[in-house]
Amino acid sequence: MKTPNPVDLLFADMDKLSPGDDSLSLYVLQSLPRHRFEVVVDAGCGAGRQTFVLASELVTPIQAVDSYQPFLSRLKRRAKEKGLAHLVRTHCMDMKDIPSVFPKIDLLWAEGAAYNIGFANALSTWAKAIKPNGFAVVTELCWLREQIPNAVTEFFRSEYQDMQSVPQNIAIAEEAGYKIFNTYTLPKEAWVKDYYDVLEPRAKSLVNHSNVDVRDFAVETLKEIETFKISEDSYGYVFYILQRSN
Ligand SMILES: C[S@@+](CC[C@H](N)C(=O)[O-])C[C@H]1O[C@@H](n2cnc3c(N)ncnc32)[C@H](O)[C@@H]1O
Repeated sequence: MKTPNPVDLLFADMDKLSPGDDSLSLYVLQSLPRHRFEVVVDAGCGAGRQTFVLASELVTPIQAVDSYQPFLSRLKRRAKEKGLAHLVRTHCMDMKDIPSVFPKIDLLWAEGAAYNIGFANALSTWAKAIKPNGFAVVTELCWLREQIPNAVTEFFRSEYQDMQSVPQNIAIAEEAGYKIFNTYTLPKEAWVKDYYDVLEPRAKSLVNHSNVDVRDFAVETLKEIETFKISEDSYGYVFYILQRSN
C-alpha cells in the first residue's frame, strides 16, 4: 500500500495554503503605482489562489513557480475551470533558481512562501532578477508586539526561530536593495476563513491515523492553531510591498 503523504491528506483540495485572501491580494496589487507588467512571477504559488487574482487582474501571463508538482497540477486544473489557463504557466522548480530562469522580472509575488528559503535570502536572491523600479510583494510571518505570551515564544522557538519584527524585516529589505513602498498586516480573518477553519477539523480527524508522519503533522498543525488562538496579536502575516532600487 502507498505510504500516505501528510501534506496531501491535510491540504487535499484546498486552494489556500497559507493565510491570505483574494480581496487582500487584489487590494495590494491595485495599490501598486503601476498596473502593467510584462514578466510576473508567483514564487511558491502552491495551488494558485493568488495566481488567479494576478492573472484575472493583470490579464498577462503569470509564471507560477513551485517545487511540489501535485500543487501545480491542481493549479492547472483550477486555471482551466476558471477560464484562466491561457494566462498561467507552471514551473516545477526551486524558487532559489528564479534568477536563472527569469532574469528580468517586473513583478515578483510571493505569499506565504519566501520563508522556505529564508526571508533575507529570498529577497537578496530575487533582487538580482527584478528590473530597476520593478516590484516585489512578499508576505512574511512577523512579530507584531514586544509582549509575547510565553507559550507563543516557546512554539516559535522550535517552529520559526528566524522570525523577525516588521522594522527588522524592513531593514533586511533595504539591505537587499529595495525601497519600502508599503507594508500591510493581514487581518485575523485571513487566517481563519478557508484556512484554519478547514485545517482544524481535518487535523483532529487525523490525530489517530495509522501512519506516524500523518499523526505528527496533524498534532503539529493543531498546536499551531492553538498558538494562534492564544497569540494576543503578538505575531501575524505582513505584506512587504517593495520596489527594487535603481
Ligand atoms: C505555505 S504554501 C503557500 C502557497 C500559496 N502561495 C498560498 O498562499 O496558498 C508554500 C508553498 O511553497 C512551496 N515551496 C516550498 N519550498 C519551495 C522551494 N524551495 N521552491 C519553490 N516552492 C517551494 C510549497 O510547495 C508550497 O506550495
